[in-house]
Amino acid sequence: MVSKETVIFAYRLLFGREPESEAVVTHYATEVKDVSQLRELFINSTEFRESLEQIQSPRPPRLPFNGPAMDVELTASSEKLTALFIKTTNQWQHLGETQPHWSVLTNESYFQENFHQNSDAFYASGEAELTQFDAILNCAKINSSHFKRCVELGCGVGRVTIPLAQRFEEVIALDISQAHLSVAKHYANEKAIHHISFEHLSQIHAISQMDEFDVLYSRIVLQHNSPPVMAMLLNQLLAKLRPGGVAFFQIPTYKAGYRFCIDDYLAQENTTAMEMHFFPQTALFELITNQHCRLLEIREDDAIGLSVTAVSNTLLVQKN
Ligand SMILES: C[S@@+](CC[C@H](N)C(=O)[O-])C[C@H]1O[C@@H](n2cnc3c(N)ncnc32)[C@H](O)[C@@H]1O
Repeated sequence: MVSKETVIFAYRLLFGREPESEAVVTHYATEVKDVSQLRELFINSTEFRESLEQIQSPRPPRLPFNGPAMDVELTASSEKLTALFIKTTNQWQHLGETQPHWSVLTNESYFQENFHQNSDAFYASGEAELTQFDAILNCAKINSSHFKRCVELGCGVGRVTIPLAQRFEEVIALDISQAHLSVAKHYANEKAIHHISFEHLSQIHAISQMDEFDVLYSRIVLQHNSPPVMAMLLNQLLAKLRPGGVAFFQIPTYKAGYRFCIDDYLAQENTTAMEMHFFPQTALFELITNQHCRLLEIREDDAIGLSVTAVSNTLLVQKN
């Protein structure tokens, strides 16, 4: 026997639809021995096999090249930049106070009430991410053994920070949310890792006061900032890269219909919702060149979820 909910869920997951009747739900719920028998029946059905053939059709849908150009304002006065930055800070401080882990990976396993039993998977995902980073450096023939100082922009609760600290002598973990930082600090202490300095990024211009570093790492962070803030952060951070140093970062670069007008955005009421912003690729390439860096690798990624209207990229760039 399995529960009726399990049967309904199996229909949704494997057939992509609701069961045709209550009777059919009752039938499976009482006839099958357990979940694995239910699964076996479903995956051997004609319906599932046919849907699998469709799923495995030659190519997944891709964003066509004929989407409209985005209208995005990228430069703001110092005063407006500060106001934009404060909006994002308030959102993330709130998210950090309420759901620090879920706000990093929005999967219900990481709600506070579920986190304890799922923490291993959460932190393992950070390790896996860095294994990919190692592979990308390797593929680009970058020898990272002489890189000492690494900056992580948006360290969150330290998911990726700890594996970074296993690779670099010094890690500076920046975040705009004190709430996330305190969870990250606690986690690093638990792991007895003491060569990470956790720093609260309380002002958008603060990065320009930092010492130079060899590596910049930032994923699923810039996307939550308005485009003028993304530009400011990237300009400051790439300016601080040492010659030969690398930046590995993710940034969404296109969404059909996205526009960003600074004054309109500042006039909107503050919310605590997580925002997603897009930075045009042409402007990004220009910024990279202006900061005396060269692009070594660019990939489309699934950091914002798979989409046929939006693109997110992960880039590896190197300072000349
Ligand atoms: C989705 S979480 C990702 C955390 C971490 N990068 C990871 O992958 O585990 C985004 C984090 O970036 C932080 N953040 C957002 N904007 C930031 C900014 N402009 N500067 C520094 N941290 C920022 C948030 O407070 C939050 O902790």
